[in-house]
Amino acid sequence: MIMADITPIHDFLLCKTPSLWLERATQEIETLLIDHAHCEKKAAATAVKLMFRYPDRIDLLKKLSQLTREEVLHFEQVLEFMEQRNIRYRAIKPSRYAAGLHKHASKDEPQRLIDGLIIGAIIEARSCERFHALAPYFKDSEPELSKYYRFLLKSESRHFADYLELAQSYAKDPIDERVQFFLEKEQELIESPDKQFRFHSGVPA
Ligand SMILES: [Fe+2]
Ligand SMILES: [Fe+2]
Repeated sequence: MIMADITPIHDFLLCKTPSLWLERATQEIETLLIDHAHCEKKAAATAVKLMFRYPDRIDLLKKLSQLTREEVLHFEQVLEFMEQRNIRYRAIKPSRYAAGLHKHASKDEPQRLIDGLIIGAIIEARSCERFHALAPYFKDSEPELSKYYRFLLKSESRHFADYLELAQSYAKDPIDERVQFFLEKEQELIESPDKQFRFHSGVPA
């Protein structure tokens, strides 16, 4: 399978996933899959929430309704991987990551909408970057999973682009500075020690 070109993702994010996290992921496949399933479900829920909050934004409705369908499908696919490995899906404590970004979002419109879309773009970009980085680590031990992570790159990189385009389209001025602000917060969450291991966690402490 040819890898999707994710150069725009690497150019966008301020850092790559630390190798300590990648090594830990190969030892924590159960938590990785449970949290991955959770993230797919959460990605769908977040998109639906935005669709309810902004019913008059037609571009947002169209893009996010397609995104929702894809995330729900990914959720089913990850559940299948778990079933094959006898891993039971259960609620686990979410990582600090998404909350750590959303706490910096504006409470006032229209900035609240723009910030929400920028955060969506960043989360999609990081997910894509992690799937890309994980694929070679699982090549021998989990070839099907490795292949699946490569398969996900195409949709996740499109989700990133869609969120970012929406954010810019609803803003009066260039959003670059605001994007940079959130990217710096994101880098901190990825590169600082984290006691908890999750799909979006920091450096294993
Ligand atoms: Fe997804
Ligand atoms: Fe996605």
